[in-house]
Amino acid sequence: MTSSLKSAPEPRALARTSTWPASRASESAPDSHSSLVTRHSSLPLSAGIYGIGSCVPDRVLTNADLEKVVETSDEWILTRTGISERRIVAAGEATSDLATAAARRALEHAGLSPADLDLIIVATITPDMPFPGVSNLVQDRLGASRAAAFDLGAACAGFIYGLATAKQFIANGFYRHVLVIGADTLSSVVNWTDRGTCVLFGDGAGAAVLGPVPDGSGLLAFDLGSDGSGAELLCVEAGGSRLPASAETVANGQHTIRMNGAEVFKFAVRVMEESTLRALSLAGMTTADIDCFIAHQANIRILDAASKRLGLPADRVFNNVHRYGNTSAASVPIAMVEALEEDRFKSGDTLALVGFGAGLSWASTIMTWTR
Ligand code: COA
Repeated sequence: MTSSLKSAPEPRALARTSTWPASRASESAPDSHSSLVTRHSSLPLSAGIYGIGSCVPDRVLTNADLEKVVETSDEWILTRTGISERRIVAAGEATSDLATAAARRALEHAGLSPADLDLIIVATITPDMPFPGVSNLVQDRLGASRAAAFDLGAACAGFIYGLATAKQFIANGFYRHVLVIGADTLSSVVNWTDRGTCVLFGDGAGAAVLGPVPDGSGLLAFDLGSDGSGAELLCVEAGGSRLPASAETVANGQHTIRMNGAEVFKFAVRVMEESTLRALSLAGMTTADIDCFIAHQANIRILDAASKRLGLPADRVFNNVHRYGNTSAASVPIAMVEALEEDRFKSGDTLALVGFGAGLSWASTIMTWTR
């Protein structure tokens, strides 16, 4: 498994000088929730990212490889999607493997250890198994013995939903360090005979460690949304409580992705613009304030259309969809890691993150990079 973040910069000073009660930082066992709430009188008002990390599988699946699987061409895939290749897990490799590796790198980047974690949230729609959660598996493998853990859905918007959830726990004083992971292995639910979808997706994981930061920095504003009337536009029909797995559902291919590409395309372009503008407005900013726009990497044409509508110049829009395809909940944090590595943003810069996908759901955030 490979990662793109090469070195771990110095942990941010704030991680050590926060106004958080020192007693909490040195505890080895979690307090009861009620005592946490009552003890913390000087609560931080915001949360920020201390460190990020990512992991993608080693195996590369190129457009040329796909030409041997379905009737398609490198030229069609490249011009319609911008994708050249994607990473696919090896046999036996699962979402929690990628998630754990990404988490270790994020912790290293943050200068923290698993014992520092209070909560682990894993955004995924392709868990290793229906239950237990990927978050439980990651918690055990990291040895994060103090951490609570749960999984979160929200598909390709899941990582930003996870950031929003983590922020609440930190800002209200309930927890100090929260690990948010976006991880998916969509190759496990792709219909490899459907050329309209199988060329689009890849596997990967990205993670962020969050903690308290001074008010006015870190995660400044969120816009979260859902339009369940579009549920059927992008779904895996079977394997849940309505259509449990059976020989018939398998024979019908109902455990694989079904998508109305044209409708999802229109939704994506519209919601990326609208959600980003709403989050900017909540942060008291405009598009001119965005130093780096990091959106869900689904299709370069969606990204180009949305950034054009937002009036963002190309040098402020990051994309790496050509290398990984659509990695669902992992795509935003993987893109963040690579953008940072390519010096596309620095301390003090304003980032806009936006995700969208099945649900239909969407999420965006405006944040200051404070490392
Ligand atoms: N290779 C070659 N031809 C393909 C193909 C492929 N991989 N996939 C579809 N085609 C064909 C179609 O069958 C169709 O042929 P027809 O006109 O003979 O019926 C033709 O290409 C055009 O298909 P169309 O659906 O109009 O293409 P498009 O320009 O809309 O692009 C998508 C299709 C899927 C790339 C595009 O709709 C898309 O990206 N949608 C959003 C999907 C997405 O991002 N989903 C995840 C969101 S989180």
